[in-house]
Amino acid sequence: MAKKPTLLTTTLWDFPSQQYGDEQQGDKNYRGATPAYILWNLLQRYTRPSDLVIDPMAGSGTTLDVARELGRRALGYDLQPTRPDIFRCDARKLPLQDEKAAFVFIDPPYSTHLEYSDDPRCIGKLDAQHREYYEAMEQVVAEVDRILRPGRHMALYVSDSFQKGKPFCPIGFDLFAIMRQRFEPVDIIAVTRRNKNLEKGNWHAAAVEGNYFLRGFNYLFIMRKPEAKVRDKRGAAAPRTSAAPAKDAPNRPVRHSIERGPGHAGPGRAPGRKPGGFKPSGRKPER
Ligand SMILES: C[S@@+](CC[C@H](N)C(=O)[O-])C[C@H]1O[C@@H](n2cnc3c(N)ncnc32)[C@H](O)[C@@H]1O
Repeated sequence: MAKKPTLLTTTLWDFPSQQYGDEQQGDKNYRGATPAYILWNLLQRYTRPSDLVIDPMAGSGTTLDVARELGRRALGYDLQPTRPDIFRCDARKLPLQDEKAAFVFIDPPYSTHLEYSDDPRCIGKLDAQHREYYEAMEQVVAEVDRILRPGRHMALYVSDSFQKGKPFCPIGFDLFAIMRQRFEPVDIIAVTRRNKNLEKGNWHAAAVEGNYFLRGFNYLFIMRKPEAKVRDKRGAAAPRTSAAPAKDAPNRPVRHSIERGPGHAGPGRAPGRKPGGFKPSGRKPER
């Protein structure tokens, strides 16, 4: 039996397998399946029972299975449905009313590394070297914004892309900038990639010889849709003025200050610092 998930408290996550426990979440043989532990942690923190969870690129259905196991309602969409409870649909035009979702999770294609379907609308056919990939993802993010309730959360799981002989594509940073136009960043998690294919062949020797790096982690970006009153006229997220959770936000298992960890001073004053503002000590900063 795969290890049971636990609530993680740092921004570095690593999982022994795609699935946990003795149930199945998604399909571990599906290329590109999201580790179910990620969904378990996100849904524990940002949803409560009966909340509606949406995955616009559901793949093998990991989000749906974890959400239902935890007593949440879940709807999944994909251009290439792998099972009957996933609806065929383009993530840029979801058949959902505005502000219906309590949480949205997306694990999109990261450039053209995997062939998901023959559908010409598949974003996995767009090379992240070109602006068309980011334009398509911008439309997906706009659709997530439309369906998500104000004050609630979304998360996007993605990797940068490097292909030998081509420039490096910092997809994570570029998608983060796109999401930041609409949402408030809550946190960024680095998730260790456990790509079994890298254990075979001469990938590591080739990376040394070619002086490049293999992808070791994925980003998990967690964002919150601002309350209507803090959105400016263009619809972009204005800087947050309060750390207070939304009125209908779930009871979090861990409070905000604890989530940020012991090294984070939080929105108030730094630990040990007296009120009255920052006074330079005259000493050089420590490195
Ligand atoms: C990385 S996989 C998702 C994996 C999934 N989270 C799981 O655990 O199995 C990306 C998915 O995006 C889908 N996809 C690509 N372009 C899409 C689009 N325009 N609309 C909806 N789904 C799309 C692909 O068919 C593929 O299933």
